[in-house]
Amino acid sequence: MSNQLLPIFLNLNNQHCLVIGGGQIAYQKINQLLESNAKITVVSKKCNTEILNLFNNNQLLLVSDVYKVKYIKNMKLIIGATSSQKVNQQIFKDSNQLNIPVNIVDQPELCSFYFGAVHSEGNLKFSVSTNGKSPILAKRIRDLFVKSIPPNTDEIIEKFGEIRKNIQTKLSTYFERKQFFEKLANIHFHSNKAKVTILGAGPGDPELISIKGFNALMNAEIILYDSLVSKVLVEKINLNAEKINVGKRAGKHNFSQDTINKLIVSQFNKNKNVVRLKGGDPFIFGRGGEECEYLSKNNIKFEIIPGISSGIGIPSQLGIPLTHRNYTKGVIFLTGHEIDNSMNWEAISKSNMTLVIYMGYNNINSIIDYLIKNGKSSKTSIGLIQKGTTKDQKIIIGRIGTINNKLKKEKLRTPVLIIIGEVVNIYSQIKNSLNYYSMIQNYDHENSYY
Ligand SMILES: C[S@@+](CC[C@H](N)C(=O)[O-])C[C@H]1O[C@@H](n2cnc3c(N)ncnc32)[C@H](O)[C@@H]1O
Repeated sequence: MSNQLLPIFLNLNNQHCLVIGGGQIAYQKINQLLESNAKITVVSKKCNTEILNLFNNNQLLLVSDVYKVKYIKNMKLIIGATSSQKVNQQIFKDSNQLNIPVNIVDQPELCSFYFGAVHSEGNLKFSVSTNGKSPILAKRIRDLFVKSIPPNTDEIIEKFGEIRKNIQTKLSTYFERKQFFEKLANIHFHSNKAKVTILGAGPGDPELISIKGFNALMNAEIILYDSLVSKVLVEKINLNAEKINVGKRAGKHNFSQDTINKLIVSQFNKNKNVVRLKGGDPFIFGRGGEECEYLSKNNIKFEIIPGISSGIGIPSQLGIPLTHRNYTKGVIFLTGHEIDNSMNWEAISKSNMTLVIYMGYNNINSIIDYLIKNGKSSKTSIGLIQKGTTKDQKIIIGRIGTINNKLKKEKLRTPVLIIIGEVVNIYSQIKNSLNYYSMIQNYDHENSYY
């Protein structure tokens, strides 16, 4: 049966209310009434010391007597908390005859109203009813709600109250005011719960995500992930979140950047905690910048959690130092996708810095041509790494002038990272001491999103 009770919040300020009984339960009810600033008459021959201690409060009057009908006249509310069933029944009957709301504690059949499980915090007060069936469950449910109250709710209520006073003259109709406050409530409560986190997943090994990133994943309600992200991170960390593959390799779906941007915003507007999970670091060839610009234009606050970019993490776990005092004074990160003359190949070739090239595997021949034509020695070392930091990692090392012969014999699968520079040789020197698979062997990458 549905709950037909009418939930109302009664203003009992300085109104006369009656409590019959002087034990612990009566004491609890007196305290609840005191919070409403009611004027309380307590009728009981005997009262416990806690009740007696309340009598220096001038909201309270003690009548040391047994219950009589004359005491309930002109009362706004009656609470019966005696140990006598006969007296309780009489109170219920008399109150009903006089049409005064009555509650005989713990006897739902002798109540014309119930107390709910109340939460009170500043201006906010709410009460949970189980239709008089289970006060204990009502309290549990109340506690669940309490956990979801944003910390500054009372401040917001206070602010709304002030605005409401001033707005009456400016917005004349009830509907205009309603619409205005609904918009305002959206802004305030979104900023408290809805969230966008742009998160870097790291280069492939799921354990290379940061602790901050891991926590963000755990708390996400929806995860929008790219194809170059470990399956473990997407599927095993947070079992409750909704997950959408928005990556280029997402099969039949084709998510343009614009669609992804709009999806983030629409999920945020649904008051969701959105995690945008990207391979490596979001800001290294990851379009993180475009997403942040779009969010900012839409007045959405977001957090960025960096990830280890493949161009840093992959050489590092192989013992290839991108900088080294004996070989190079710096490093250049480059895209190998859509390369052309607009890139300053002369400066790149002559820079003598380590080159880390993303998305360049399919253009490797053109890249090498550009470099050699612009003065890079054909003897310069090169390393190509397939699916770095996963158990499908594969490394091919050579010289840029002759690497093509090796690549004809041995095909790699993307993603592939290319490193060019003398530091690559260090890998050949130290590889027998490397134990790099130990950190990833526990994960099954067979079905990762590569
Ligand atoms: C669109 S970019 C994204 C880069 C990413 N934001 C990052 O910081 O690593 C994709 C390119 O990164 C490189 N890449 C990413 N993960 C890789 C991996 N595990 N092994 C080799 N290359 C990888 C490849 O060059 C790939 O084509």
